[in-house]
Amino acid sequence: MKKNNIKICIFGLGYVGIKLAVHFSKKYKTIGFDSNIDRINELKSGYDKNSEVLKKNLINKNLQFTHKNSDLNLYNFFIIAVPTPIKKNKQPDLKNLISATKQIGKIIKKNDIVVFESTVYPGCTEEICIPMLEKISKMKISKDFYCGYSPERINPGDKKRDFSNIIKVTSGCCLYSSNKIDRIYSSVIKAGTYRVDSIKIAEASKVIENTQRDLNIALINEFSIIFNKLNIDTMKVLNAANTKWNFNFFKPGLVGGHCIGVDPYYLAYKSKKINHNPKILLSGRKINEEMPHNVFKRIKSLISSKKYSKKKLDVLILGFTFKENCSDIRNSKVLELIKLFKNPKFKVSCFDPYISKINDKEFKDIKFMNKLTLRNKYDIVILAVSHKYFLNLGFKKIKNFGVKNSIIYDITNSFLEINKLNRL
Ligand SMILES: NC(=O)c1ccc[n+]([C@@H]2O[C@H](COP(=O)([O-])OP(=O)(O)OC[C@H]3O[C@@H](n4cnc5c(N)ncnc54)[C@H](O)[C@@H]3O)[C@@H](O)[C@H]2O)c1
Repeated sequence: MKKNNIKICIFGLGYVGIKLAVHFSKKYKTIGFDSNIDRINELKSGYDKNSEVLKKNLINKNLQFTHKNSDLNLYNFFIIAVPTPIKKNKQPDLKNLISATKQIGKIIKKNDIVVFESTVYPGCTEEICIPMLEKISKMKISKDFYCGYSPERINPGDKKRDFSNIIKVTSGCCLYSSNKIDRIYSSVIKAGTYRVDSIKIAEASKVIENTQRDLNIALINEFSIIFNKLNIDTMKVLNAANTKWNFNFFKPGLVGGHCIGVDPYYLAYKSKKINHNPKILLSGRKINEEMPHNVFKRIKSLISSKKYSKKKLDVLILGFTFKENCSDIRNSKVLELIKLFKNPKFKVSCFDPYISKINDKEFKDIKFMNKLTLRNKYDIVILAVSHKYFLNLGFKKIKNFGVKNSIIYDITNSFLEINKLNRL
């Protein structure tokens, strides 16, 4: 496969896939495939609902979008970036990955290359995806076609670290494919690539990056629970400890989304399969899963100390995406916190500059506002996500949304002028 013969097909055009499509199309003829026809239509019109890609980058003669398998025959380098969530029982949910793999199995030809980018546990590509491709295509891996794994590290909402300036780990099923895959990725990534010896190493490296972050935050959340009970300011303790050269600084906080709160379960699943119960990993997960309840408990205790006479308290929640400066609400722990306020004692209003409405039936009683206007209204104001929008408003303006003597609670620890018991 010569460089100028490479034609790229990206499967799954979400946060990851659309970035891949745009960047690869700068060098190669590229097509983006998504099973969701609405997504294809919006991208064709030059609109990305996730606000990650500009119109000028979508309307490009080297880049096409389709939901039809029949448009993919020309292509020879497939990249899979479909979602890999967890089921209700926290087990890996591989249905999208399996369905995309089956579709690709039907269209790959001799010498084609398939690279998986979806986050999985170590072994998933070789134990599940490759045998499926071999069976459906009736071809042999490393002889007739090739596979690789290259984990994704994009960080939605982060304008500094974009696809091309993040080092990318690459791998292949054999020396030929690992060289080839690495060369193709390094041709579009300024920061360069880091080639590893096997697909399993690449899979494992991704899953531990997020597991480590999850556990670090869990540890700080546990500190915050202890210090809150001891009436000590957690942020001041962290700032003091951080003056030591080998202290790793993390803030306490809510861990939601589809990566940090999900990937550790993939590793735990594989670990249990080989008869090791990953105790630290799972106890970190438990602490982070319980944080919305913890925040709710703390706010309730602040409410009790106020002795309100009102029957119904007005609550304003600022921000409900799973993290700052992006529009992604998947597994948002703020939404879990909002559910805890679903109680006749509270009237909850929410505002997030990135979201205009939530169609979910579960939130039908909650007022999602399109504009922040009502001042001096709320008994409780909760800063739940540190969007730049709220940081730019500043503490004074946020405080002004509350009535005199209101409770202002800062989950994000953005405003240190707030009393230590009113921060996480
Ligand atoms: N979003 C991130 O920040 C991020 C970062 C690193 C890794 N990842 C990983 O990358 C993968 C993709 O994540 P995402 O956030 O881009 O997901 P996403 O939900 O934003 O988008 C996935 C897209 O895939 C499409 N899709 C689903 N099944 C399909 C199929 N069978 N064929 C074609 N299209 C299909 C969906 O319609 C959707 O448009 C996941 O494994 C995730 O864990 C995500």
